[in-house]
Amino acid sequence: MINIAKPMIGIEEKQAVLEVLDSGILAQGPRTKLFEEAFAKMTGVSYAIATSSGTTALHVAMLAHRIGPGDEVITTPFTFIASANSVVYTGARPVFIDIDPATFNLNPAQIEAAITPRTKAILPVHLYGLSSNMDAIEQIANQYHLIILEDACQSHAATYKGKKVGSFGTGTFSFYPTKNMTSGEGGMITTNDPEINDSCRVIRNHGMRRRYYHDELGYNFRITDLHSAIGLAQLNKLEGFNKKRREDAAYLSANLKGVAPPFIPRDCEHVFHQYTVRVAGGQRDALRAYLLEKGIGTEIYYPVPIHQQAYYTQKLGYHQSLPEAERAAGEVLSLPVHPGLSHDDLELIASMVNEFTRTR
Ligand SMILES: Cc1ncc(COP(=O)(O)O)c(C=O)c1O
Repeated sequence: MINIAKPMIGIEEKQAVLEVLDSGILAQGPRTKLFEEAFAKMTGVSYAIATSSGTTALHVAMLAHRIGPGDEVITTPFTFIASANSVVYTGARPVFIDIDPATFNLNPAQIEAAITPRTKAILPVHLYGLSSNMDAIEQIANQYHLIILEDACQSHAATYKGKKVGSFGTGTFSFYPTKNMTSGEGGMITTNDPEINDSCRVIRNHGMRRRYYHDELGYNFRITDLHSAIGLAQLNKLEGFNKKRREDAAYLSANLKGVAPPFIPRDCEHVFHQYTVRVAGGQRDALRAYLLEKGIGTEIYYPVPIHQQAYYTQKLGYHQSLPEAERAAGEVLSLPVHPGLSHDDLELIASMVNEFTRTR
């Protein structure tokens, strides 16, 4: 079976975990500090703050920017639920706009119409490993004095005009096992702002600056040194992982027929967290079943846009139509693109997709 994702764990990760176990410092400690410093360097920012997951990174980043009840955050509905839930956790309201059908990312042409006196931030999600259109987003954010909070959970080391995602505003990353690099579970916030850095560290650790003195409401969103040790070892391999993902994607794009391959804008270096094609004509689910029969795992990211999720319609009262996000949800299919694929795997994926599309 060719799986849709495969964590690439080697001797370095195993060794690093054993060293932490032997050190006796298991909770957030020296490995976490090293992980944060190395991640900040890779992303090209002054500070990085590790957390227990991508979701808690988003949540802490929102709180550090004092986003809360009465505020609105403009974002995309075509993403993993955590992007929008992190806004809801704070008491603020996600305001969904439609996506650009070519890139699957939030369409900047729709941002201005969604701005109200309550708008506090724009939350672009760099979906599938591809940066959002950051020139357009920065221009609007500057004009209306809005915060940029980037959900880069799927885009470690992706670039826009040569600059890494997560360095345009406050960035957030996930190290879930399917991601381009993993720590088991874990997250990271990136920023150039010393006050946001300070705030994130306090919120992550029970609102505590001085031991057992609590200035504000905080949480236990700390990462452990065991996870940071794995993350550090993976970070050293990230460039190689991303290179292999790009090569796999290039092979698929050159060889697939009958499906629409991912579009790469000129300004972007895609890191192919996912290789996502569009299958038109209502054939997506049939192709998925066919590939499964042939031993090829695929996934639909995401079958229901967030504004149509039951919790959002029934509990939060969302009733809107966002046609491009809804069309994408019915057409997208992600094929395996992870660094563990052999050339034979890639040939099999391409030939099976082509066999299906030729006969339909
Ligand atoms: C776009 C996006 N945002 C947020 C998250 C949340 O990250 P985590 O699963 O580490 O909490 C994920 C990961 O699953 C994601 O893909």
